[in-house]
Amino acid sequence: MYRMGEEEVKELRKVFLSKQLFRVGDPASGHLQEVVRFEQAWAKLIGTEYALLLSGGGTAALMCGLVGFGIGPGDEVLIPSYTFMATASAVLAVGAIPVIVEVDDSCTMDPEDLEKKISPQTKAIIPVHMVGMPANMEKISSIAKKHNLKLLEDACQAVGGSFKGKRLGSWGDAGAYSFNVFKIIGCGEGGGFVTSDRMIYERASIFHDSGTAFRPYAGDFTIPIFLGYQFRASEIMGAIMNVQLTRLEGILKDLRKIKRMFMESLTGKPGICFARSNDLEGDCGVVVAFRFETESKALEFAQSEGVNGGRPLDSRKHVWFDWEPIVNKRIGGHPAMNPYHFPQNKNLRKDYTKEMYPKSIENLGRTVFVPINPDWTESEVIEKIKACEKAASKL
Ligand SMILES: Cc1ncc(COP(=O)(O)O)c(C=O)c1O
Repeated sequence: MYRMGEEEVKELRKVFLSKQLFRVGDPASGHLQEVVRFEQAWAKLIGTEYALLLSGGGTAALMCGLVGFGIGPGDEVLIPSYTFMATASAVLAVGAIPVIVEVDDSCTMDPEDLEKKISPQTKAIIPVHMVGMPANMEKISSIAKKHNLKLLEDACQAVGGSFKGKRLGSWGDAGAYSFNVFKIIGCGEGGGFVTSDRMIYERASIFHDSGTAFRPYAGDFTIPIFLGYQFRASEIMGAIMNVQLTRLEGILKDLRKIKRMFMESLTGKPGICFARSNDLEGDCGVVVAFRFETESKALEFAQSEGVNGGRPLDSRKHVWFDWEPIVNKRIGGHPAMNPYHFPQNKNLRKDYTKEMYPKSIENLGRTVFVPINPDWTESEVIEKIKACEKAASKL
């Protein structure tokens, strides 16, 4: 959440004065339809038929996708070794088992390893567009089609990004976004879900809306209502997100402009090499990604004066061996509710040792991310570029 200000306050004031904070209400009695308006605008922006705004974050959005696909116990879902734990926890939340795929030199899911990891139990793939960088959706989509697998894009860290001109989240059967405080736009906590498949949308809608007791349109659903959870967004979230949406393209433009400045100024300089991108045009520009010959050179560069960088390998949150409750299989509040204990999952692949993913360790260890702030002044950007140039020249 890079930018917020008076515009959000103004719209929130209107919501409070309407005294209607629940997402369902009649416009004739002053209800502002903030959530509905956001969902319509978000679907239009992404290029899908349907969208939902969720109070349960990107995690709930991923769960909506998996429930939409009908994933459950006995199913394996392929996820990359580099992502926030929530990608794996959403799979476990529906009773299925996450199976990890290596990341390649773009720090996103390696299509080659993906194909090797498909088993008869695999039902879905979740590529993750980490730190604004698109996964190779062309290759991953064609593998999903070939093997008849569902595709759920985790675009939580790449809100508004695209691959080959098509927005992230619209390549798959469904897409998930996070609007928490660390993301490109947000409302503190929150998530977005998109799909163009009517059945997936109906299942996701029912699931996110408890017993679906309050929705006037529930009568239009073509499937029986089942019991879900309570992930409905409030009008407060909707109002903030409607303003945040007007800021999105400006934020992306500024992030991308700064990233371009870094790349144009540093290309060809001693010691400098950039990590491979699957699509620089569609990359959100959240970080400049450098690549080094060795893990130790990457570490030295990251720690050099003025660089303020970090290796993804050292994030402590986003690499599979950091997902402590999952590695140790402590899931849920009761042993019988732990998918690792379910009889249907008995023969699935459930190990996540450090040795299993050497390619990921190498790729994440040789990469350094330097985070970009879209509100840096030109002289701040130049100062940072100089620090990177100096640090790389000394390696
Ligand atoms: C890649 C990724 N997936 C999923 C999530 C979960 O999103 P939330 O925290 O909004 O539930 C996050 C959040 O940080 C994330 O970075």
